[in-house]
Amino acid sequence: MRIIHPSGHKCSITDTLEIAKPTLLMSLACTIKKTSIDTMKPSMKVGVVALVGVCVILYQYHLSAGVRFDQLNAGDPGVSYGAANVPNNELEDDDNSYNKIIEDKIRAAVQWVQNVHGLSPDLQNILVAELINQFRKTRIPSPLHLKASEDFKLKQRTQEVTTINPSEKIPPLYVITPTYRRPEQIPELIRMSHTLMLVENVHWLVIEDAKVPTKEVTKFLNRTGLRFQHLTAPMPAKYKQKKGVKPRGVSNRNRGLKWIRANATEGVFYFADDDNTYDLDLFTQIRRTKKVSMFPVGLCTKFGLSSPVVKDGKFSGFYDGWVAGRRFPVDMAGFAVSVKFLLQRPNATMPYRAGFEEDGFLRSLAPFEPREIELLGDNCTRILAWHTQTKKNEPSAALDMKLYRSTNLVELKQQIV
Ligand SMILES: *[C@@H]1O[C@H](CO)[C@@H](O)[C@H](O)[C@H]1NC(C)=O
Ligand SMILES: *[C@@H]1O[C@H](CO)[C@@H](O)[C@H](O)[C@H]1NC(C)=O
Ligand SMILES: *[C@@H]1O[C@H](CO)[C@@H](O)[C@H](O)[C@H]1NC(C)=O
Ligand SMILES: *[C@@H]1O[C@H](CO)[C@@H](O)[C@H](O)[C@H]1NC(C)=O
Repeated sequence: MRIIHPSGHKCSITDTLEIAKPTLLMSLACTIKKTSIDTMKPSMKVGVVALVGVCVILYQYHLSAGVRFDQLNAGDPGVSYGAANVPNNELEDDDNSYNKIIEDKIRAAVQWVQNVHGLSPDLQNILVAELINQFRKTRIPSPLHLKASEDFKLKQRTQEVTTINPSEKIPPLYVITPTYRRPEQIPELIRMSHTLMLVENVHWLVIEDAKVPTKEVTKFLNRTGLRFQHLTAPMPAKYKQKKGVKPRGVSNRNRGLKWIRANATEGVFYFADDDNTYDLDLFTQIRRTKKVSMFPVGLCTKFGLSSPVVKDGKFSGFYDGWVAGRRFPVDMAGFAVSVKFLLQRPNATMPYRAGFEEDGFLRSLAPFEPREIELLGDNCTRILAWHTQTKKNEPSAALDMKLYRSTNLVELKQQIV
């Protein structure tokens, strides 16, 4: 397929994207020059600059929609998106309404510049006409095509990812976070969500030790914009009633594993408690996990850290303040596991044994030997996760309803523990 460059040159498909953007902006600049920028009032110049800004934003929106120009061309059905699955008239409808939206936006933008900076009506008309003209010339495709067929979209996306930029196809990272209601819960989850917002293709499994989801958590998760799953998994009564240290977070993590078994096919998962601090490099590194990867965790136990011991680039044991006969004396935040590896081990599970959760789980991944551990963090020379251990706070005192019944405090108190 060939696309005619507005300057009259023919260019190949692969050039299109590179050419189209400068072309639109150049033409815009020419338009403005033709209408003689020197004769404009300073305020009008500001207006024109604002208008160019609007156009750039509109344009970038197209780019971010992930559509290449050569993949979609309403005038050339042979290369239309979804040509195989989607009736063409539907695509045309989409295109027409989409073009109309863009043209309306152009008119509105110019109108805005006119209102604020006083463009002459002539200049206003010229700008509108030229911008629409340029928009049509570059034949920017409608992202609505992508919605036309879910199936086709997926196929195209995968293809696109491999043809445009192979590094874009990143397998998912499942982050399993057990949590429970306590004064620090929401602030901890906020901190953690901010970390995850910086991680690509992450799927956050937040699992509460509760019978029903906590409203505050539901509301919070909904606002993060992250891809998440909000699940509940109360600790079984027999462990809850036990005296001494309870196997906290086990029902939650096993619920997370159950979700992964049912819903995931590739990628890596990681048990990330809500009170830890995570180096962003951690997420980059664990993505490559083939079986089980491990790395140093700071601020744990009396040794101050927990890490595999590495000698000459090879695993040679574990360093942890509390070994207690554990085969894998590691911290919960110190390892990541491949989803495929887990799926091949249908019996793998975390035992309800306080202090032995990590060891029990890693043992249940048998066949798996310590020498198979993938050492991350530059041969375990860098700490990738920190066991922060936030200070525990007492639940807050009850609110004096006589004094504060009709104040904001009532609503605020519902948000804290
Ligand atoms: C989540 O957000 C959506 C849209 O922002 C809203 O419609 C929905 O009611 C929210 N759900 C909860 C549980 O807050
Ligand atoms: C798998 O995912 C679906 C959709 O999110 C969910 O409804 C279902 O409960 C999940 N399965 C398990 C076992 O968690
Ligand atoms: C780990 O150590 C081995 C042996 O010294 C070396 O070959 C390798 O490059 C190191 N890897 C990293 C990521 O530093
Ligand atoms: C899983 O456990 C069941 C029951 O204990 C056992 O029969 C089966 O062999 C185990 N499967 C694997 C792959 O270890």
